[in-house]
Amino acid sequence: MQQNTSPAVHFSRKTTILFILAVICTIGFLFFPSYAQDTLAVPEGVHQEAQPADTLDAETEDPVTEQADEPEDEPVARDTFERGNYSRHDLRRGQRLFGGMVAFGSGTHDCSSCHYTSVPDTMNWNPSARDLALVWQENPGYSISQLLANPVGRRMIADHADMIITREEEHQLEAYFEYLLEQDPGRIHPFPVNAFIFWGFGILMALALLDLIVTRKIRFRALHALIILAGLMVHLRYAMTEAQALGRTAGYAPDQPIKFSHRIHAGENQIDCSYCHHVSSFSLSAGIPSNNTCLNCHNVVREGTHSGRFEINKIHRSAESGQPVEWVRIHRLPDHSKFSHSQHVNAGQQQCSDCHGEVEQMHILRQEAPLSMGWCLTCHRDTQVNFLANPYFEMYEQLHRDLREGRIDYVTAARLGGEDCYVCHH
Ligand code: HEC
Ligand code: HEC
Ligand code: HEC
Ligand code: HEC
Ligand code: HEC
Ligand code: HEC
Repeated sequence: MQQNTSPAVHFSRKTTILFILAVICTIGFLFFPSYAQDTLAVPEGVHQEAQPADTLDAETEDPVTEQADEPEDEPVARDTFERGNYSRHDLRRGQRLFGGMVAFGSGTHDCSSCHYTSVPDTMNWNPSARDLALVWQENPGYSISQLLANPVGRRMIADHADMIITREEEHQLEAYFEYLLEQDPGRIHPFPVNAFIFWGFGILMALALLDLIVTRKIRFRALHALIILAGLMVHLRYAMTEAQALGRTAGYAPDQPIKFSHRIHAGENQIDCSYCHHVSSFSLSAGIPSNNTCLNCHNVVREGTHSGRFEINKIHRSAESGQPVEWVRIHRLPDHSKFSHSQHVNAGQQQCSDCHGEVEQMHILRQEAPLSMGWCLTCHRDTQVNFLANPYFEMYEQLHRDLREGRIDYVTAARLGGEDCYVCHH
């Protein structure tokens, strides 16, 4: 009797173990993103032919050792380190040096405690690893070791005291920078929601369901529930991340190319909104100030309390190169509807904060209102306009008569036509 049933039981136990192993592996990936990061493939461009030009110290160069096929995992003794000539070894060392997994020769501690290697959710004033990489890429003469050896500015001096790195270590950091630049910034995210995990859990969930309903190999039902629950959580988290990336909805607060803070400017330094946003002449693109507006002050203010010189330098670089700063637009109505700021701010006497919230409290600007049609209409129905005192409204003769003769007590935006389709739609 017993012997007859044993093959089936045996098989199901094996499957159970496989399932448990798969779950453990996936959870391992989930909670140890650094493991996944450490085994990344070497991108293209690493270990290619030596490129001429833009060398920092073009001394003696031995073409034989440069061109020869070096064993990829051996450190190579070189006294010149050129941009663009990185080996697999350089990348691995650079990544570990930056992440603090190995120390620099001088004993300097790691860089990633300040220079984040992932995209943080909150305001982080220090340049991220990617920020550093971008500046390095755009400026041929840029040398990390020289910047650290001769720091300029209060923050640079304070934060990099005695952080001397060698040319070889710099070369390795550069390999890492180049690697970072080839990554999609969206993928460099602390929560390892990536395709592998997404599909991995998808398949696991499908298997669990299949077994639960059809094959019934595993008797231990709690395992099915566990897998499906974990899978749903991962998929939910994934959906949320995706929705945020898509959404021009309330709460949308994208990263900007410069860490510009309304809290510092409009709040702490009390700069008037209209100094930068020329509200009365708002057109679709004229809403965001140009470099010149920034430079009115930042020709003098060269260093910020939080970010040092790094962020403000971007304004100067942009002005020099003529390449405008590419601010990410946050508020945007669909094309079929139109909105005029001057109508609301001048005629309607609405405050910026009525629609944009407490902007002067925000480091990272965030869309507060839903910008839906219902939102517009609700305010139009509820808001009394300062009808008699505002000469703009003199043309509404019928409403003046109604008011005078007591047919109405007050005038709302809706009564002025703010509910008519054509005023908002083309
Ligand atoms: C020193 C210049 C400056 C001042 C002062 C300033 N802003 Fe801005 N504002 C900017 C810049 C630059 C951006 C684009 C970057 C960003 O979104 O953070 C911006 C963006 C915005 C946006 C989002 C635009 C979009 O893309 O949809 C709103 C809304 C806004 N500001 C409102 C205000 C309000 C309200 C005040 C006053 C309390 C104010 N700003 C004061 C410079 C300024
Ligand atoms: C009316 C003057 C003025 C204008 C215009 C102005 N800023 Fe500033 N900005 C300041 C002041 C003051 C500080 C604070 C400096 C400090 O932290 O001591 C500052 C700080 C900063 C900082 C660093 C914040 C920190 O604490 O590290 C950045 C970045 C910055 N501004 C970007 C911009 C950009 C971009 C623009 C143009 C859209 C701009 N500023 C326009 C006056 C101005
Ligand atoms: C205590 C925090 C901290 C640590 C640790 C740190 N940095 Fe920085 N680093 C900063 C800050 C803040 C800035 C911006 C300062 C400024 O621009 O005034 C900066 C700027 C830099 C810059 C200059 C960017 C530019 O273009 O001006 C480089 C290069 C740099 N860091 C490299 C490194 C390296 C390499 C390490 C590791 C050996 C490191 N940093 C460790 C905080 C830190
Ligand atoms: C009645 C609501 C309302 C008020 C009041 C208001 N805004 Fe806006 N704001 C909007 C809407 C809606 C948009 C999106 C417009 C679009 O997409 O055409 C917007 C967009 C913006 C933008 C993005 C750039 C642009 O040109 O569209 C900036 C900057 C801005 N507002 C700043 C301000 C400032 C500064 C004030 C105060 C002087 C202010 N707003 C007052 C509703 C308002
Ligand atoms: C915070 C309140 C508020 C919100 C939100 C608001 N409005 Fe208004 N709106 C007013 C007021 C007050 C007036 C009256 C001023 C006037 O008629 O000139 C007005 C007037 C208008 C007018 C002119 C009406 C006319 O008869 O000429 C248009 C068009 C308009 N709003 C469009 C919009 C759109 C589109 C939105 C949403 C994206 C919106 N408004 C959101 C307060 C608001
Ligand atoms: C106060 C301004 C305002 C008035 C008045 C108004 N709308 Fe809208 N309407 C909007 C805005 C803003 C949107 C876009 C909101 C969104 O996409 O969520 C919109 C969206 C719509 C849409 C949806 C379009 C789409 O792409 O999904 C339709 C349909 C529409 N309006 C029809 C009307 C009709 C019909 C009237 C007259 C009874 C009217 N609206 C009056 C502001 C207005």
